[in-house]
Amino acid sequence: MSIQEELINWYEANKRDLPFRDIKDPYKIWVSEIMLQQTTVTAVIPYYNRFIERFPDIKTLANASIEEVYKYWEGLGYYRRALHLHKSAQMMQDKFPREYEDILALIGVGPYTASAIMSFAYHQPYIAVDGNALRVISRLYAIEENIALNKTVKKITEIGNKLVIGYDSAKINQGIMDFANAICLPVHPQCDVCPMQCYCKAYSTNKQEVLPINIKKVNKKSISYITGIVVYDDEVMLIKNKNGLLENMYLLPQYEVESPYSFIEAFKEEYGIELEVLSHLKDFKHVFTHRTWHMHVYVFRADKRSIDFYTNKKQQELTIPTAHKKILKYYQG
Ligand code: ADE
Repeated sequence: MSIQEELINWYEANKRDLPFRDIKDPYKIWVSEIMLQQTTVTAVIPYYNRFIERFPDIKTLANASIEEVYKYWEGLGYYRRALHLHKSAQMMQDKFPREYEDILALIGVGPYTASAIMSFAYHQPYIAVDGNALRVISRLYAIEENIALNKTVKKITEIGNKLVIGYDSAKINQGIMDFANAICLPVHPQCDVCPMQCYCKAYSTNKQEVLPINIKKVNKKSISYITGIVVYDDEVMLIKNKNGLLENMYLLPQYEVESPYSFIEAFKEEYGIELEVLSHLKDFKHVFTHRTWHMHVYVFRADKRSIDFYTNKKQQELTIPTAHKKILKYYQG
């Protein structure tokens, strides 16, 4: 079976029953997708049902007052979305656009939403790239690039658009969404029960706990680090800081780089020790008076030890700044 067939079969057997699924009306799909942009599926369902009952088509929405539309949005947040729907409905007259570019031109609609509508309403070959698709595709193809960058999103979109050719893109896209929420979880993906395991390059190279890499740009007062829990047996590496604010304190090694693989290179150059990345632990933030550290913490295994490795017990004797102490505490459980 092809990777697409595996996904579609899984979807057919496991799909969530949602009111905006398996419908053809692009208007209703558009409303649901706008609601789902910043809100969870569970929260959206009752709002979607009430909204569609009161405004069942473009015309009804266009003829309603904005006050009433807001009333039906109350509690959902990001009220600009309601305004966009109302304005667009008034511009559309009676007909929902059929072409990707025309849908993309609607206010409040970006590439994800336009693709989702093209796929769900018209079954056209568009991959809808949201966080779910970024994660699943990054893993399937072992893409070691930062998904926070446009160029990575573009690359993943190209892969996805090829993936849907010859298949019902609606099943692939919604399949990815449900699969990403049930199996291909952000932390601890359930690879043991994954129907696409034999196709997954992340799984075959043991990178499923590392990918996708998601390092967001930070503002001027912030620094973004890859921070390493570098382990050898039961010891963790801590480096005595020689200068600056945290002088003489013991820190986890960290570099201002954009991926754990760049960390490995910098680390090898500095310490001559080879590392293997084991998992993405978690992202931490620490606010100092004039600076904020964004720490993307990964666990690495070292191929040898040096004098800078400490057991949990020996760590008690060191002065470790709070920014890193809380990471170690989380790691040690
Ligand atoms: N999130 C956005 N659109 C969705 C859909 N159609 N099904 C599940 N989750 C979604």
